[in-house]
Amino acid sequence: MLLADSLPEMSNSIAALTDATILLLCLSPAYFVLYRPLRNSWDKNRLHQQEIRRLNHQLLTASENERRQLARNLHDEFGQILTGLQIEIQLVKQDVGGDPETARTQCDWISQQLTGLSGQVRDISRTLRPIMLDTTGLAATLRWLIKTVASHQPQLRFQLQIPEGRLSAQLETVLYRLCQEAINNICKHSRAQQVTIELNLSQEWVTLSVIDDGCGFDLPAVEKSAGEAGLGLIGMRERVAACCGKLQILTRPDEGCMVSAQIPLAQKELP
Ligand SMILES: Nc1ncnc2c1ncn2[C@@H]1O[C@H](COP(=O)(O)OP(=O)(O)OP(=O)(O)O)[C@@H](O)[C@H]1O
Ligand SMILES: [Mg+2]
Repeated sequence: MLLADSLPEMSNSIAALTDATILLLCLSPAYFVLYRPLRNSWDKNRLHQQEIRRLNHQLLTASENERRQLARNLHDEFGQILTGLQIEIQLVKQDVGGDPETARTQCDWISQQLTGLSGQVRDISRTLRPIMLDTTGLAATLRWLIKTVASHQPQLRFQLQIPEGRLSAQLETVLYRLCQEAINNICKHSRAQQVTIELNLSQEWVTLSVIDDGCGFDLPAVEKSAGEAGLGLIGMRERVAACCGKLQILTRPDEGCMVSAQIPLAQKELP
């Protein structure tokens, strides 16, 4: 009697247990097939976003440091000269009715200072963005850059093979910035003696290579440090990727370094 009474309850429990087992059996493949890959991709996405935020922060810091350096240069280079000029002009004003010879000497000094000042303004503005890139083009601007670098680093020999024709302004800017960073790196890190810069044009592509015979470096280690060493290589990659191009860096310790960028000639204008 007791057993007969508890039978419906037992069969309900068994039915519930069977339902739970079936549900579990159905859900487990869904967990492995759908949820786990989705979860992995969410995790990866979150890590990428953290990485992007970290790199953005580094870029902002780098740009802030550049501004600080520029402000310091402007203050140190020009502040003193401008104060000197003001004092000298006051003296000329006093002397002008008296001794014309002294006034003339003071005017010569002022003129010399102004010539120096305009040279410094030109240098700073060229470093920020060479106007000659817009007027005379990439080949002439790279020749100027190399001449400037060679004047500070006489041990470096440069070989430049760049055709004279013009490319789009956007491409010339990217190629110039790539060369600028590659040369900066060579000067800072490589202890090289010979640098070759080549630009080759095909129907659809422009290829820029900067090759040095210096100490080379452990590229995987630098890439793994994700910006710890610096931002130059990351910046190069981003510039080239923004033009739908490919950047290749071939280097090993003691075997020099080749940075090569291949960029399509047909560029979409940046918004
Ligand atoms: N031509 C090179 N020869 C030897 N080592 C190099 C060369 N180019 C880059 N490196 C190495 O790769 C590292 C990363 O270069 P990257 O340009 O990203 O940073 P950085 O020059 O140190 O700093 P930043 O460019 O931000 O001022 C350098 O610290 C250096 O160790
Ligand atoms: Mg660098």
